[in-house]
This record gives sequence, C-alpha cells and structure tokens, in this order.
Amino acid sequence: MQSSKASRRLFLTAAIASVLLLLTLHSSAQTDLTGFWVFRVPTGDGNFRESFFDLKQDATKISGKSIQGTRETPFTDGTFADGKLHFVLSFNFGNPPQTRTVTYDGVLDGSKISLTSQTTGRDPVKGILERSRPEAALPPARLPLPDLHDIPDNGLARTPPMGWNSWNKFAGKVDDASVRGMADAMVSSGMKAAGYIYINIDDTWEGPRDANGNITSNLKFPDMKALADYVHSKGLKIGIYSSPGPKTCAGYEGSYGHEDQDAKTFAAWGIDYLKYDWCSAERIYTGYVPAELQAVYQKMGDALRKSGRPIVYSLCEYGRGDVWKWGSKVGGNLWRTTGDISDNWRSMSNIGFRQFDISQFIVPGHWNDPDMLEIGNGGMTSDEYRVHMSLWSMLAAPLLAGNDLRSLPDDIKETLTNGEVIAVDQDPDGKPVQRISDPEAMSVVIVHPLHDGSKAVGLFNRADTPQTITATWASLGITGKKLRIRDLWKHVDTDSTADSYSAVVPSHGVVLIKVKSE
Ligand code: GLA
Repeated sequence: MQSSKASRRLFLTAAIASVLLLLTLHSSAQTDLTGFWVFRVPTGDGNFRESFFDLKQDATKISGKSIQGTRETPFTDGTFADGKLHFVLSFNFGNPPQTRTVTYDGVLDGSKISLTSQTTGRDPVKGILERSRPEAALPPARLPLPDLHDIPDNGLARTPPMGWNSWNKFAGKVDDASVRGMADAMVSSGMKAAGYIYINIDDTWEGPRDANGNITSNLKFPDMKALADYVHSKGLKIGIYSSPGPKTCAGYEGSYGHEDQDAKTFAAWGIDYLKYDWCSAERIYTGYVPAELQAVYQKMGDALRKSGRPIVYSLCEYGRGDVWKWGSKVGGNLWRTTGDISDNWRSMSNIGFRQFDISQFIVPGHWNDPDMLEIGNGGMTSDEYRVHMSLWSMLAAPLLAGNDLRSLPDDIKETLTNGEVIAVDQDPDGKPVQRISDPEAMSVVIVHPLHDGSKAVGLFNRADTPQTITATWASLGITGKKLRIRDLWKHVDTDSTADSYSAVVPSHGVVLIKVKSE
C-alpha cells in the first residue's frame, strides 16, 4: 500500500517534471528572437512601410541593429522577457545635429510580434514584426544602362508648365477626393483662367504590381482612369509621379525595370505629365556620375516617347550632375535644380536667389525647376510670397501651386493669379534672366528681356529692413529718352526721363516693373 502510494507520487512528480521540462524547452525554442526581421506598418492605403532589424538574443538581453538602406543603427538597449520585447534606437540627424530616439515595444503573438514604435514627440506607430531574410533589405540587382542618345524634343511645355502639385500641402494624404476638389477649385477660383492647367498627383498614389507586373493605384485612388477623365472634363490636364528606383521617396512602388510598362499604363490612364524622382535609384546607380543619371532618365524618356501619348517629362534629381546641361537630351521638359523647398523665407530665398548662374540653360520646352510654389501654405508673409512669385516668374520657372486651392484667401489668390507677373513667366521667348547686382548683395537687381522688346526688372530686398534700391537704365541695358514704366504689382504706369530708377523696397519684398522705350 505504502509502496504503491510512494511509487504513484514518484510517477506524478516525474510526470510534472517532464511537462515542465517540455514547456521550458518549448517556450525557450519559441522565444529565441535571434535572426532577421521586418517591421511592417500599414500606411492605411493598402501598402506597408517596411524597416528591417537584425536581432540577437542572449537570455533576456536583446542586441542588434536596424538596417535602412545602407544605414545601420545599433540598438542602445533591448530586453525580451515574458513574451515582451523592448528595444531602443538613437539617430543623429540635421545640422546642427539633433538626436532622435525611437522606442519599440512588442508582444509575442504566435510566431510574430505586435510591435509599436514611439519616436519622441510623435504619435506611436503600430505594426507587425515578422521573420524575414537579409536579402529582403537589399536593393534588386543592377540592370544594365542603355548607351546614350539624344531623344527628340516632344514639342510640349513651350512655356513653363503651370498647375498644381499635391506634395507641399498634402504629402501622403493626397487622395481621389482631394484631387477632384482641386480640379474643381482650379476652375472656380479663376486659377485655370490665369493659366494653371496641370493637376499633378505626387508620391503615395502607388499600389502593388498585379500578376502581369502592371502598376496599380492604391486604396486612396480607386480608379485612376476615371480620375483622369474627371480632370480632363474640367478642361485641365493631369500629372502623376514615379521613380527610376525600386521605391519612391515615400517608400512606394517605383518604376525600376518596368519603365516601358509604366509609361504605357500612364498613357492608358490619360496621364499628361510625369514627375520622375531619383529617390532609391541611388541604391543601384551612382547619382553623382552625369552619364549614369542621364542613362537612367533616358530610359523613361524613351518609354514615354514610345507610349504614344504626349506626356510632359519632369526630371527630379535635385540638380545632380549638372542636369541643366543634359536634361533636354533625355527628353526632359523641366528638371529640378535644387533639393526640396519648404514654406519659409530662408528655404525659398536660398533656392530662388541661387538660380541666376544656370538661367542661360533654359530654352522654350526645357526649363530649370527650382521646385514648386509654397505660396498660401502659411509660413511666409504676403511680401515674401510676392517675392516667391516674382522671382519664379523672372526665372521662367514652372509655376506649380502647392497650397489648398479650395480655400484661397484674397491676397493669395491675387498673388497667384496676377496676370502681369504670369506674363513675364510665360513670355514666349523664354529668355534667361540676368543678375545686375553683386552676387552677395542683399539688394538684388535682375532683368529679363521680353518678347515685345520691353524688359522686366526686379528689385528684391533680402535684408531685414526696408532698402532704397537704385539701378541705372544703362546697367539694365535699357536705352531711350522717355521710358514707360509699369509696376506689375501695383498695376500703375509712370514715365521716366531720368537715367536711373529708384524704389523703396520693403524688407523681404520686391518691386517688379516692366520698362519700355516710348
Ligand atoms: C522628393 C521630391 C519632392 C516630393 C517627394 C515625394 O523629396 O523632391 O518634391 O516629390 O520626394 O516623396
């Protein structure tokens, strides 16, 4: 009796011990997180933003690194205990350098981890951490580049393109409804009548490729062809965006290896304008070798030509490789000359006043693009926005409004639709602008010859106090005993028989005149 009780107890103890051992073995097998992982965050439009992590687990300690392109950032701290994962990353960015800390916290859920990332000062971002392979974080193999050849002029954009682009105001929030709303507002506000024709969708419209490799639009754009038809029905044209790399700058599907197919899709949808943004092409090709840039952009230039639809070709590679010297050879109608503009005086004026030396490269059909307008986005004064509009017009730059056209305050509408200033931008001769003042001067005087024999003259004040700015007619190349002067912002005429012109220009302001010999 005693012995059978004892052996039963022994048996039970052994059974419990083996179950515990099995459980321990099982849970430790499941909880070794060592390996390569991808963190997939839904973007809300059917796509996922992916970031990669290489994790190492040593008991409850987690070390490892995040891998984003060529940038690897080691974790500063990490633990995994009771099914809960925690790790921290710190990045240095900007000038002067600032530190950004991202904290990740997750819970094991089967073979995956529900993970939340929290960047200091931002909303938390939720996604799923899944097992992956290091190859998934690498760019695709480099495809050979074509030999260079000159693509014939497509005959489009004889004057700098005018329209609207979604990025500056909407960034990733652009969708079908906002684009339709902008097309409606373009007409009802009088912007269309002033010459603004293109409604351009920037990054984040892209969905995955279908089984045949055709690019699709994502959930924010249910039917791209129907949207293009709608924009066309308003007497407007529609633009779209892609990248020569596998991913766009916002991490969406790019045209890499699908150039001909995408150009055909865009043509079939009825697209009239393509902005083609370098972005992740940098992971495959060398963005500082002009011949490589040129060959990459030539690929899409040829594809657009073969698409059978006239499509304005806008190169966006931030001015690399002196694009103004070869942009027209790849079929480009315009090319970005700078990095991205922001809605503030420093950014706009640093870009705008540095464009004069390359103005000589513009000809009708082929324009320097100092980036889209920020007028009306709220970060500058009315004077500063008038400088923006005047300077871009004197440069014969594309005029792509970047604000919400559905709510246009009167002064913004007046700035954007001033027909006399737009006429300078749209002058059919497309002549370069010439700087008269010293390169470093805070009072900037520039002159732009116009088709009717007159000259547009801009007196710009970059200083923080009002300045009297004077230029002799001779320095501007203007001759004649009596000159008729039209103030393009005040809309008044005066005559001059003097040998110079003087104006008091407000801080961060402009006086823009058109001068004709009588
Ligand atoms: C780059 C471009 C911008 C805009 C964004 C979209 O930064 O320069 O104009 O297109 O990409 O991701």
